[in-house]
Amino acid sequence: MRKFESVDGQMLIGGVRATEIVKKYGTPVYVTDEDAVRSNYRAVFNAFDKRMPARINYACKANTNLAILRILEQEGSCIDAVSIGEVEACLRAGFTPDRIMYTGVNVSTAELKAVAARRVPINIDSFSELERLAMIDPSLPISFRVNPEVGAGHHEKVVTGARSTKFGIPKDRIVEAYAEAVQLGFRPSGLHCHIGAGVQVADPFVKATEVLVSIMQSIEKELGLRLDFVDIGGGIGIPYHPEDHAMDLDALAEGVTSLIKNGTSAKRIVVEPGRYIIADSTVLLTTVVDVKETPDKNFAGVDAGMNTLVRPAFYGSFHHVAVANKFDRPAEATYDVVGPICESGDHLAKERALPRVEEGDVICVYDAGAYGFSMASNYNMRPFPREVLVHKGTVNLIRERETIEDLMRNQRIPSRLML
Ligand code: LLP
Repeated sequence: MRKFESVDGQMLIGGVRATEIVKKYGTPVYVTDEDAVRSNYRAVFNAFDKRMPARINYACKANTNLAILRILEQEGSCIDAVSIGEVEACLRAGFTPDRIMYTGVNVSTAELKAVAARRVPINIDSFSELERLAMIDPSLPISFRVNPEVGAGHHEKVVTGARSTKFGIPKDRIVEAYAEAVQLGFRPSGLHCHIGAGVQVADPFVKATEVLVSIMQSIEKELGLRLDFVDIGGGIGIPYHPEDHAMDLDALAEGVTSLIKNGTSAKRIVVEPGRYIIADSTVLLTTVVDVKETPDKNFAGVDAGMNTLVRPAFYGSFHHVAVANKFDRPAEATYDVVGPICESGDHLAKERALPRVEEGDVICVYDAGAYGFSMASNYNMRPFPREVLVHKGTVNLIRERETIEDLMRNQRIPSRLML
């Protein structure tokens, strides 16, 4: 969890008062601190690169705002993209195709053709995908995603490396996949796995890397094929709760790179963090619009809900909250922070000790940069909120608020219904 400064009891984000941002841009609003994005990127890149040549493929599913992609492009990051939409966004943001890797699951032939036409390397998830891609373009750089049978993550919905999940080529058929690829005319260049998201400790990454290393050895022994890179996927957790510990990046990097250096002839390690780079760079600011005291609970009703940030409702995820305009005040009461969506599950935070909350206060939801805006919805016909970028005291709008008109633009009423 990031620490924020304050002046006169007012929370500061990148040197700007949260209340000033709210006055100008309204709420709900996602606020990203550019310096935090850059320093997170550098921390993760350096931890790995000082041990062996590293490439960071930012998992842009976490946040695809074009301005944020530009920042990471400037930093030298590469990209993990999972859809043609993400590929197009990254190309628009200035990434060249060779800096993007496409890792889809259940990929349609139309999407494969579109990605191949942009010369973006493809990380293949199944035999079917391999065979369909061979008919499209066997000259494309490829790698394979294996199911390592090592899974981890903050919630069962985000564990991807376990044997029973839909992801990757089964471990005991992966050498066969490389053999078939060579036969089809490909020159595979890497091996990938992704164990899951929000992993707080290094151990599962080390276990998965052991699996990757042993597969690399079999590929080399049985097929005489030397792969350039090992990709350990993403999933590095962050401390959402004040009592959580941050991942020891050095221990993680040391654990996995030493296995790769000792056990393979790979030239490069690839890591695909999304959350680690972007989560704590961004907060969600939301205004208290209604305070309700009931026999059981106090509710701080705000103008952001599960449509704006779904993680608490969907995974039961914890996001720290503070009252941005009463930042130094002690806690006086316990609140559930709840939104305007008509479901009981619509909450941002539960049972939080906060200063006494009144209508007009601004609640700051921490660590909202990853899977915040990118998982937002229009549920209850609510437009997407604004996003702004703060950089050393200046604030730029990086996404305009959607309008209600936008929500109706693509709908059509058949003329017979207009009579
Ligand atoms: N690489 C692959 C192939 C992935 O599927 C993912 C995430 C990542 C990298 C990045 O994971 P990260 O470093 O951001 O944890 N919506 C969930 C997270 C789902 C992640 C899906 N895949 C959440 O809000 O926690």
